[in-house]
Amino acid sequence: MTLPKVGVVGCGLMGSGIAQVCAVAGYPTWVRDVAPPLIDKGLAAIEKSLSKFVEKGTLPAEQKAAALSRLQPTLRLEDLADCDLVIEAIIENPDRKRELFAELDKIVKPGAIFASNTSSLSITELMTATHRAPHFLGLHFFNPVLLMQLVEVVKTVVTDPAVISLGMEFARQVGKVPILATDRAGFIVNRLLVPYLLDAIRALEEGAGSIEDIDQGMKLGCNHPMGPFSLLDLVGIDTTYYIAEILFDEYREKRFAPPPLMKRMVLAGMYGRKTGKGFYDYSDPKNPRVNRLLEV
Ligand code: CAA
Ligand code: NAD
Repeated sequence: MTLPKVGVVGCGLMGSGIAQVCAVAGYPTWVRDVAPPLIDKGLAAIEKSLSKFVEKGTLPAEQKAAALSRLQPTLRLEDLADCDLVIEAIIENPDRKRELFAELDKIVKPGAIFASNTSSLSITELMTATHRAPHFLGLHFFNPVLLMQLVEVVKTVVTDPAVISLGMEFARQVGKVPILATDRAGFIVNRLLVPYLLDAIRALEEGAGSIEDIDQGMKLGCNHPMGPFSLLDLVGIDTTYYIAEILFDEYREKRFAPPPLMKRMVLAGMYGRKTGKGFYDYSDPKNPRVNRLLEV
């Protein structure tokens, strides 16, 4: 079985990246968001990223054009009706995702595979909104999708093993390295990564160091490519907050609980890079400045 046609639902940070790697790999790809400006923003990010690869010489210019021609933006879920694989990448909210999957279940042809890119929600819980349990799995890409190699392929207790194999093969086809994870909140990577990010905020709240020193400490002391605050700004403070709530709900352990400062930042719209301000201020994107208002 091949997967000739892919649908991606959500054209934000992750959905646009997933749509891009699918189109570059040769899949005709529908990408759906809920309003024209959101689609436009996602497509502009794809165009910019493809141009960067062309400038660097890692993508021939004609392949950029071919990838763009394979991308079909849409506002209508109905356009995904004959997709063979639909990957959901909308907001990290169980109700919104379940509503979407229930709707997709009615629209998309029987036999098509459904996947969620959720960071932390139970794949089983999302699956129960549909009538295609054996054909439902997690395909968890990492941010930035274009540069990160990993995809967690997540199986539930009822996913058909053949569908897991297809998920693994699909990840390879889009240039990624798959690993297999079972359906536990946070899978493998976020279960380990998110408590570390939350702990960095607690360290800041407790006055252990400044934003730049904590970031510098983890970069130079542990060779991480980014410090925790730069990474939180990249992932999105809003998204990480939702993830933490979901992990806390599953495990009931303090290490997963979102710290008070994080909640205040979400309430104030400080989501990180995507809103221009988080732990850093991105008014000048090439030279982010520490957001001093957050320090104790
Ligand atoms: N499209 C195309 N090329 C791009 C690009 C884009 N959008 N962004 C950057 N590039 C290119 C750059 O031009 C650069 O090319 P050269 O090496 O030829 O100059 C190259 O990619 C590297 O970019 P940068 O120099 O800007 O950045 P970097 O070397 O510091 O690497 C990074 C960037 C890969 C993001 C690195 O900082 C990193 O690995 N950070 C950690 C990311 C991480 O941990 N992600 C996981 C988040 S958690 C998650 O995703 C799960 C979840 O559910 C929340
Ligand atoms: P985002 O806020 O950048 O994008 C979400 C997009 O979904 C928005 O454009 C929104 O308009 C759209 N949307 C909402 N409801 C929709 C619907 N019914 N149909 C179509 N589009 C809809 O969020 P993101 O960072 O791209 O995260 C998306 C998913 O990917 C979440 O489940 C998140 O946990 C997961 N994820 C995020 C990261 C990360 O680093 N940000 C990494 C891996 C996985």
